[in-house]
Parts: sequence; C-alpha cells; structure tokens
Amino acid sequence: MKGTAKAHTNIALIKYWGKRNEELILPTNSSLSVTLDGLHTETTVQFHEDLQEDVFVLDNKEVTGVAYDRVTNYLNLFRNYAKKQGLFAEVTSTNKVPTAAGFASSASGFAALAGATSKALDLQLSDEDLSRFTRQGSGSACRSIYGGFVEWQMGERDDGQDSFAVQVAPQDHWDIRVAAVVLTAEEKDVSSRVGMRRTVETSVFYDGWLQSLPKDMETIKEGIRDKDFEKVGKVAEANCLKMHATTFGATPPFTYWQDTTMSLMQTVQNLRKKDIPAYFTIDAGPNVKVIYLPEHEGEVLRTLEAARGVEKIIVSKVGAGISYK
Ligand code: ADP
Ligand code: DP6
Repeated sequence: MKGTAKAHTNIALIKYWGKRNEELILPTNSSLSVTLDGLHTETTVQFHEDLQEDVFVLDNKEVTGVAYDRVTNYLNLFRNYAKKQGLFAEVTSTNKVPTAAGFASSASGFAALAGATSKALDLQLSDEDLSRFTRQGSGSACRSIYGGFVEWQMGERDDGQDSFAVQVAPQDHWDIRVAAVVLTAEEKDVSSRVGMRRTVETSVFYDGWLQSLPKDMETIKEGIRDKDFEKVGKVAEANCLKMHATTFGATPPFTYWQDTTMSLMQTVQNLRKKDIPAYFTIDAGPNVKVIYLPEHEGEVLRTLEAARGVEKIIVSKVGAGISYK
C-alpha cells in the first residue's frame, strides 16, 4: 500500500483570498493560476498495518505540531472515504521549493500528498475528484493537479461538490516564463490561512476586492486564449495589488511586503518603461514572481539579479500536472 506522486506548485494570476467555509475550504471567489515547472514536491505515502499513528518526514526531518496535525487530519479524509480508519501511514516528502515563504509549498505539498495517498489506497480517482480532495488540504493546491493554466471554480454548493479546478489551457498552449525571486527564504509570520481569515473578517476593503473579481477573471481568460501578454500581465499585477490592499484594511492591519518587495515591484515597473513587458505578482509572503516572455529572458534576469536584496532566482516555464512513479 504505497504510492508516490510529484506535483508542481502554481502561482495565482487571479488570487484566491478568502473562504466561505473554513472546514471544507470553499472559497469566496474563483481563482486562476499557472503551474510552474521549476518548483515541485515529491511525496511517498506508505500505509502499514503495524503503525500506531501517522509519521510525517519532510526534507529528512520528522515533523510534529501544526504541520503534522494538518497532514494527519488530511489523511483522515482519505481513511474515511476508503473506510480504512485505524490504518496509519508513513509520509515522506521532499520540497524543491522553500517551505512557508510564499512559494506555495503547501500547494505542491498537498497536491503530491493527495496523489500519493490515493495511489497508495488504490482509489482510482478522476482528476476532478482528486482536485476536490486536494482542495481540502490547502485551497490553492487543488489547482496543482493540472498543468498549464488552471481555474479553480469556486462553486456555489454548501457541500463543495462543485468547487474544484479545471484546466483552462494546456502546458504547451503558451510559453511564458516566471522568475520566482527569493528575497528571504525565512518562514513568514502570518500564514496565508490566518491572513485571509483576518482579512475576510475585518478588512474594510474586502467587499471592493470581491466586486472586482468577475471582471478580472473574464479579462485574464481572454488574454490567455489570445496569448495577449500585456492584457494578462496588467490584470494579474492589478489583481495582486488589490489582494494585498485588503491586508492594509484589516484589524490589526498587516502586510506581507518588506522594503525589498516594494523596491522589486518598482524594478519590474521600470523594465516596462524600457519597453520590456514584465509584470509582478506576490502571494502571502515577501517574495516576488515576475512574468515575462522568453525573448526578454536575458534582460529581465540581468535586471532582477542586480536588484537590491535578491538572494536567488528560480526560473520556471509553464509546468505539467501531477505525475506518479
Ligand atoms: P507556502 O507559501 O509555502 O505555501 P503556507 O503557510 O501556505 O506557505 O503553507 C506552508 C505549510 O504547508 C507548511 O507549514 C506545512 O504545513 C505545509 N506543507 C508544506 N510542504 C508540505 C509537504 N511537502 N507536505 C505536506 N504539507 C506541506
Ligand atoms: C495568496 O491555499 O495557502 O497564495 O486554503 O488556507 O491552505 P489555505 O490557503 P492557501 O492560500 C493561497 C493564497 C494565495 C493566493 C492563491 O494562491 O490563489
């Protein structure tokens, strides 16, 4: 009873930021992402009759506390579904992505965990079912089941059956690049889960965020369909800024940005003044992802490497969906 799966992380161009149901992880809005080939997680799940509890080893270290509870609670979903309560697993995972630093380690992490667990239990799930399961580990992870450009449809039902991801365009539809710029690989203070809850509950800007989303989604889908880079970049950057604006309107207010984050945003905007189309997006952390076209890679990377506070740059092409060993 063993399964191994590899999943890539994804970067949202239209952000998921808020839940309408915390337990089932049902979002307040639909979101859209690109799967990234440069950042991934590989996870092996092995169920043993003689284990008394789950064991979770991440990057060769045994994990306890909140991250362990998250994994074991998540495995309960599968145990309940397969009617295998009382059967525990050894989970071994490797993140080729900095953990909890806004690089969506949770996205590739939970997608790989879902895939490996369903293989280990031989559940034969469809991608749609796998995406529904994955959503309940971490919302953004449900988009990592697919390669290419992916939409998580928020759904309307209270039981979450219509809340799962679908592919909008395949991996080979359009060669765009994403430079993940590491400004700090330290773990962040406010997790995305806590940050979005605080924002939904208290931000005076939250309604404005929600109202603006359907239009952003329509525009980005047109842009992806037509391979209109400027259209996609503009709406993605604006959507990111609106999401981060909600954190400033929360009580207590907070931000994921550091001074180097803002400085890098300006670096990217300055590239555009030199007619290099590059746009930024930022998740729940200080690091910045820059999207650009392959023909501008040299100039974009030279500029980013010279920017203040940059520790490392990880370049990705559009990545593939989940795979199994
Ligand atoms: P990030 O920006 O890295 O996604 P989050 O705070 O959203 O940050 O999620 C990080 C959490 O995701 C970790 O603390 C851990 O609970 C979980 N996680 C990360 N990698 C894995 C993995 N490979 N398997 C299972 N859970 C993981
Ligand atoms: C800013 O998926 O990490 O990256 O569902 O609580 O696990 P949970 O949150 P998570 O939040 C991701 C937020 C985001 C935007 C996005 O990826 O869409």
